[in-house]
Amino acid sequence: MRVRSDVPAPEALRQALYEGELFLVPPTGASRALVDAVRAALVERLGPEYRLAQASLPPEVFFEHMRALRRLLYTDPAHHQHVRAVVAGLGWDPAEVAFDPLRLRVVASGGHEDPRARAVYYPHRDIWYGHPPSLITWWMPLDDLAPEETFVFYPERFRVPVPNDSERFEYKRWTKDGWDLKIGWQKRDDGINAHFVGVTGEVEPGPAVGFGCRAAENLLFAGAHFHATLPQALGTTRFSLDFRVVHLAEHAAGKGAPSVDNRSRGSALPDYIHPAP
Ligand SMILES: [Fe+2]
Repeated sequence: MRVRSDVPAPEALRQALYEGELFLVPPTGASRALVDAVRAALVERLGPEYRLAQASLPPEVFFEHMRALRRLLYTDPAHHQHVRAVVAGLGWDPAEVAFDPLRLRVVASGGHEDPRARAVYYPHRDIWYGHPPSLITWWMPLDDLAPEETFVFYPERFRVPVPNDSERFEYKRWTKDGWDLKIGWQKRDDGINAHFVGVTGEVEPGPAVGFGCRAAENLLFAGAHFHATLPQALGTTRFSLDFRVVHLAEHAAGKGAPSVDNRSRGSALPDYIHPAP
């Protein structure tokens, strides 16, 4: 399987995504503007060498910067507007979609050795967290990245169940103390104290499909894809942004990716940002 770089018309693109195709398409004006804004925020907090800051800052100071920035990106209406612009950048109509707002992902060099970060590396499907099969995940790197510092897909598992404990996920329980777990990395020990859905037992996932990318490119994939973040020890922190989007009419019409092993309960969809009525 190859990662496509063409940009089909919106409906055809979504249909291909529901069928498991992967797209990594060039930056748009909107994805560049968003990435530039977030990089500026990182530079302001961490300095121009923000990818190296983790080595020099005390961990609690680094964490506090990321906690605050993550909360802002997720909750700030100006950043919701950025998401709509990114969606429109590929010709989609923002009035037709609901979205789960922006998350900043921070993959530290050597982070896989930190028990607090272990869930970052769990192979998973995004839909195991109470998302519908119509979920499309939209991911953008803040910097040019080599394949060994991104993540991989296991296309053979797109339609084949993976043993997992998603039945332990209940959306209401996940959000009962507020949105900290949803936004992610709001308390330093969440990675130890919360239960993150994962694979149970041994899985032979089949060949991995990875990718390298340029800053502000748009990677789109079905939230049902089985994928895993790669551990890296390159000495630099990897920063990326993502949000999740559901086309409401297609969702209502039952369109979406196959859902072969998701037993999570409840739905995050009502809490997405919905278009104005
Ligand atoms: Fe994911």
